[in-house]
Parts: sequence; C-alpha cells; structure tokens
Amino acid sequence: MVVPVHSDAFAEKLLSWFGANRRAMPWRETKDPYMIWLSEVMLQQTQVDTVIPYYQRFIEVFPDPESLSKAPEDDVLKLWEGLGYYRRCHHFIAAVRDVCADYGGRIPDDPHIFRRLPGVGDYTTAAVMSIAYGHVLPVVDGNVIRVITRIYRIADDTTKTKTRMLIRDMMAALIPSDSPGDFNQAVMELGALVCTPKKPLCGECPLNDLCRAFQHRDISLYPFSPKKMKIPQYPVGLALIMKDGRFLIQKRPSKGHLAGLWELPGGKAEGDESAETAMLRKCREELGLTVEVCGMAAQASHVYSHFKIHVSVFSCTVGAQREKDLKHQPFMWITPSDIPSYAFPAVNLKLFQTIFPSVM
Ligand code: ADE
Repeated sequence: MVVPVHSDAFAEKLLSWFGANRRAMPWRETKDPYMIWLSEVMLQQTQVDTVIPYYQRFIEVFPDPESLSKAPEDDVLKLWEGLGYYRRCHHFIAAVRDVCADYGGRIPDDPHIFRRLPGVGDYTTAAVMSIAYGHVLPVVDGNVIRVITRIYRIADDTTKTKTRMLIRDMMAALIPSDSPGDFNQAVMELGALVCTPKKPLCGECPLNDLCRAFQHRDISLYPFSPKKMKIPQYPVGLALIMKDGRFLIQKRPSKGHLAGLWELPGGKAEGDESAETAMLRKCREELGLTVEVCGMAAQASHVYSHFKIHVSVFSCTVGAQREKDLKHQPFMWITPSDIPSYAFPAVNLKLFQTIFPSVM
C-alpha cells in the first residue's frame, strides 16, 4: 500500500485551483441528475468541446427523462449522429426508460440502484452520484489515472484491473466528504488542463509540492502501459445505387457496431477480399441485390477505437431487379435532400459531402 500524501492539503490545494480555473460547461450550471448523467455519458471517449453542442441540442429536445423515454429511437440517434460510440446512446435510452417505468422518472439517489441500470458502470455511477447527489465515490478515468500515478509514482501496468483498483483506493483516501463532486471534477480538470499526457505544465500545478514524480523528475514514466497494439485497417466497399434521382440506403441491425444507424449498402472486406468484392457480396447477402459497378464515386478513411476503415463508394446500377426481391434488412430510396432526416455514421456523412456537395 502506498502511503497517502496529506489528503487535506491535497484536496484544499486542488479545490482552490479548480475554483479559479474550472472551464465553463453547461452541465456545470445545473444539479439536475438527468442532465449531469447525459453529460457524463457523452463525455466518455469524447472531448468537452465536441460534446457541448450535442449536449445543448439534446436537452433542448429532450429536457427530462419523461420526454426522452417517449421518443422514437431514430429521433434520439439523429441527435447523437457524429458523436460516435452509439452503444452509449442505446444504453442511455434504455436506462432512462427504466427510470421512468420503475422510479417515476426520478434518477435514483442510491448508487447501488443506479449502478444496475443499462450501460451504467463504476465510472458513471461515481461521477453522477457524486456530482448530482453528493455521494462520496471517487471516479477513475484516464485523467485521474495520469494524475494519481504521477503523484504517487505508481509504476504498475495501468491497463490491469488491479492497478485501477489501487488508484481508486488512493482517490478514496483523498476525496473530501463535503465536496466529492467538485473534487472528482477537479482531478479530471487538472488532468485535462495541467497534468497532460505530453508536456505537462508542472510549473503551474497546484499539487507539484506533493507530487512524487515531479520531485523525482521522472514524470514521463507515468502512467505506465505496455506499448499499444497497432490497430488493424479494413477495406470497406459501399454501393451508391441511383434510380430516378433517389439512392438506396439500409438500416444497420439493432445490435452491434453503429446499431440502428442508416448507411449505404455494402460492408467490410473479409480475408483478402477487395472492397468491391465485399460490396457485391454484402448487397447480395443483405439485400438479395445483384449490382453492376460503373465507377468510383468517393473514398474516405475513418478511425474507430479498435480498427480503421478505408471506404470506397462504387456507383452502381441494378439489373432486372424487382423491388419486391429486396430482402432482409430495412431499406429506403431517398433523395440527397432527405439525408438530414436519417442518422448516418460519420464516415457516410464525409462521403456524402464529396458525392452531393450542394446539399451537404
Ligand atoms: N470528464 C468527464 N466528466 C468530467 C467532468 N464532469 N469534469 C471534468 N472532466 C470530465
């Protein structure tokens, strides 16, 4: 067990720094647990500046659990379009529906009950319960891991659960019972603004006299994680099938990657398949459609958390296909001006900008 630094001094210095340096964020103006929860869900894997406009649009349309619980999933996904990690959105809808069905639309003020809702893990529980209701629960996220491993010179592999539990214990020894929400946000804010991954601003850090790595001049060794694996890249082939000014889109399955979003037909190459062959195969398998390629319409790349894709869109025609032969997944023929009415993955929107520049 690492001996804690003086916890009162730590919290005092940190909270006074936070008071003077906290960034304005719309969810910091409220104590509404629904809004705080929404912000914490959106902030997972996503930068504050990206989240702010999404958060504002979302609470304008769905200002409370009741309004969200009654909304069609497609309308909610449209507001999430471009924010990525769509599983967060599906879980949030399911959890808010449970809150309305089981708790009269009031977010439970009990960490054990809240933790059981769909998509809610230790981080979200600690963040929402501390900020909205004052429960003394420490958060552990990437920023917290960086700050704490440097303060204590923890050299263990931070990808391991055991190390994260040690960091949570360190945080639990430091968090003050009278302002746990501010304390949690202050550690994350310090990690985002001062104790940054590269070139941390140690000279400006309110905790530098308590920081063991700063004292030992070896900040760059923390946090430790084994070298990241290179993520794979896959070719993806999509079909732009135009007919009478309309083109075909299909809805992705309700489970899995990008669930419930709309896209151009096609998909990821398997084995040493080319993008074009993958597109032809997917059109056949998922829509029962045989298409002919007439040219390349657009190309784009996109990086997800565990893989990259390089997408090629092929202009295609359909042979003697009859409409009723289309099968399997839900599909639509839409005009370019209908694009804003459907939720598409970010890479589809990038491609539409090339293909239909006048409407995007
Ligand atoms: N990262 C995620 N949630 C945060 C919050 N409430 N304050 C600062 N950084 C955060």
